[in-house]
This record gives sequence, C-alpha cells and structure tokens, in this order.
Amino acid sequence: MTFNPESFVEELRAAARDPHPARAVNAVMKSTMADPAAVAAGVPDYEGEELALLESDELSVYCARFFAGQLVPPHNHKMPAFIGVYEGTEINQLFRHDESGLTLVAEKHVGAGETLSIGGEGIHGVYTGDGKDSLALHVYLGSLKTISRSLFDPESGREMPFTDENYQALLQSLD
Ligand SMILES: [Fe+2]
Repeated sequence: MTFNPESFVEELRAAARDPHPARAVNAVMKSTMADPAAVAAGVPDYEGEELALLESDELSVYCARFFAGQLVPPHNHKMPAFIGVYEGTEINQLFRHDESGLTLVAEKHVGAGETLSIGGEGIHGVYTGDGKDSLALHVYLGSLKTISRSLFDPESGREMPFTDENYQALLQSLD
C-alpha cells in the first residue's frame, strides 16, 4: 500500500459529507493507519509541530508532531477529532471538566497503526511514549484554527481561551 496525502484528503472530504461523518472519517482513519509504514513514507517532510494538509470550514487535516519530554496542556477542540499515529506513541490523557474542576478520566496509549477519536466536547492533554517524538495524522470536522476553544490549567483546572500565549505558558516539560 502507498499513502498519498492528496488522495487521503479527498477520501476525508467525501467522508465529511457522509450522513454520519464521524463514523465515515473514523473508517478512513482506521483503513489508512492499517499500514503506518506506508503513511510514514508518504507524508511530506516537515519541520516543527505541524503541517496543514487541508484547512476548510468543514475539515482540518494536519500532520502533527509531539516532542519527547513535553506535556501538551489539556484543551478541547469543539468539534470531533481523530488521531492516527504512524510513528512513536501519543499518550492521550482524557479529562472531564465541571464545577469541581478538571478530572483525569482515562489515559490512552496510541501507538503506530492505532487510532483514537475524541468527541466534540472532549478534552485531552498529550505526551509521548518511550522518550521519543510521536508523528500522527490529525483530522477535525471543522475549522480548528478559527473556532473559539479552550485550554485548561492542569494544576488549577481553570479554563482559559486557547491562544498561543496561553498555550506556551501552560506547556510543561516532563522530567
Ligand atoms: Fe488536541
């Protein structure tokens, strides 16, 4: 199998128009991630945290790298999110936020070839496994960069707007 980013995006565009878009996108993610080595060989080279494959009102598609030793602060997306890992391991901490604050409810290890979907109101924080960077495809059913969404202080549970400044302030190093 080969992985072609343009074909992947076209499959996702069709899935996003399905009467059950979350289910359809999930199916595309599972079939694509069945061969993580093909995905790794087919994604464009990029530096840094992410490369946008598509940003539209209906769909956002990124290649996403998380760095070893960093704890990405808890945040929501306000739209269904889909993660497919092709190298390394993304450890996703899933939280609930209510009047009593932020509560860790599950920790999902998503390794190469595995997928995770997170509902529209879901909150996650991420770090990587085995002291290595993780590489994944991230898909969102909406325009992730333009929507108003939240970050959460993992210590106090306080909710705040998702801005670059708040993100950098909450980003933690694991020691
Ligand atoms: Fe996220």
